[in-house]
Amino acid sequence: MKRNILITGGAGFIGNHVVRLFVNKYPEYHIINLDKLTYAGNLANLRDIEGMPNYTFVKADICDYEVIKKLLAQYEIDGVIHLAAETHVDRSIKDPFVFARTNVMGTLTLLQAANEYWESRPEGYEGKRFYHISTDEVYGALELTDPEGIESPFTTKASSAEHHHAYGREFFLETTKYNPHSPYSAAKAGSDHFVRAFHDTYGMPTVVTNCSNNYGPYQFPEKLIPLFINNIRHRKPLPVYGKGENVRDWLYVVDHARAIDVIFHRGRVAETYNIGGFNEWKNIDIIKVLIKTVDRLLGRPEGADNDLITHISDRKGHDVRYAIDSRKLKDELGWEPSLQFEEGIEKTVKWYLDNQEWMDNVTSGDYQRYYVDMYKGR
Ligand code: NAD
Ligand code: DAU
Repeated sequence: MKRNILITGGAGFIGNHVVRLFVNKYPEYHIINLDKLTYAGNLANLRDIEGMPNYTFVKADICDYEVIKKLLAQYEIDGVIHLAAETHVDRSIKDPFVFARTNVMGTLTLLQAANEYWESRPEGYEGKRFYHISTDEVYGALELTDPEGIESPFTTKASSAEHHHAYGREFFLETTKYNPHSPYSAAKAGSDHFVRAFHDTYGMPTVVTNCSNNYGPYQFPEKLIPLFINNIRHRKPLPVYGKGENVRDWLYVVDHARAIDVIFHRGRVAETYNIGGFNEWKNIDIIKVLIKTVDRLLGRPEGADNDLITHISDRKGHDVRYAIDSRKLKDELGWEPSLQFEEGIEKTVKWYLDNQEWMDNVTSGDYQRYYVDMYKGR
């Protein structure tokens, strides 16, 4: 079946993996990637698919109502997968306004434009879908239930819900009450509420997912894993916030993209699905794994870079622990993470070490010239 799908934020970290998956897997679809190319957007992330006949890139701002409305009609969009957002918690603490603008107003703009366009069509909402990608951070923070600290499950199977529940720990469920703490998560929570309001008020066919921390290729090196891999490579200090005891649940980014594919096509309208790896790690333990892996792959002696660990003051309002229960997604739609964390982290470290040019372009700011060169004269 032919479909015209608008993916927002496709030049960012998760977005490029979603665009790649859809462009390659569904040659009968037309994928329109709409991205403003903020500091986080990088068209070099999409070089391998930019010439595909079923792919179109549009540089635009999701807050620009007139442009969005025009694009929806021009491409006869019947599905929206909305990833565009401001995403870095530390930036949201310094400058919350842009987070409210993009994450709340941008999402509302897309919703309103899509709703008006679909309502104006003779077939109405038939065959339409608005899929909003959100985060586990909207649920707030969980306690560290083990006073000795959570034992990082490096050797356990990533998707083993039973193993993790056996510890008697608390998890975020789809029914967990929203309790965002950072300006980033507050803005994402606001956007989630607008999406659900559009379903409840107008009957718009929406779906929302809340995912845990992603890792993998093409992540902007302001986030823990790519920043630390690059710093270890260059023997630069590793700024660990506080004691490094905070816990995150890590999922390989391609597994998130696979979940998005399944939910876009088969998820039930108006539902929420949690997506996670059942893979909790204390930051400090992940950092030790990163040091070990980078040193091994670069042929450095074991432990050579342990002294790069530098404890600095904690992030303001730093959420202690996130942990997603994604059993609804597994039970209803059969999705599970495909990669064990050992495999995923090895692949990821290798990718950043093998793609130093990509990293250098990002850290030097050169990547921002790519669009100008690529689209000059068009
Ligand atoms: P990212 O910061 O890497 O990319 C965001 C993309 O959005 C960039 O390409 C940027 O140019 C674009 N963008 C920003 N403002 C825009 C605007 N006003 N108009 C159009 N485009 C704009 O983000 P990411 O990590 O890939 O996250 C993507 C989505 O997934 C976000 O909605 C985020 O909240 C959610 N999410 C991320 C994670 C994670 O671990 N990274 C986990 C769960 C959910
Ligand atoms: O949980 C999903 C969220 O994960 C997404 O919604 C966000 O967009 C994404 O940025 C991510 O948020 P985090 O704040 O968890 O990710 P970050 O990589 O910034 O930090 C991971 C942990 O590492 C966190 O506890 C803070 C800590 N940290 C981070 C950085 C950048 C450090 O100790 N030092 C650092 O320099």
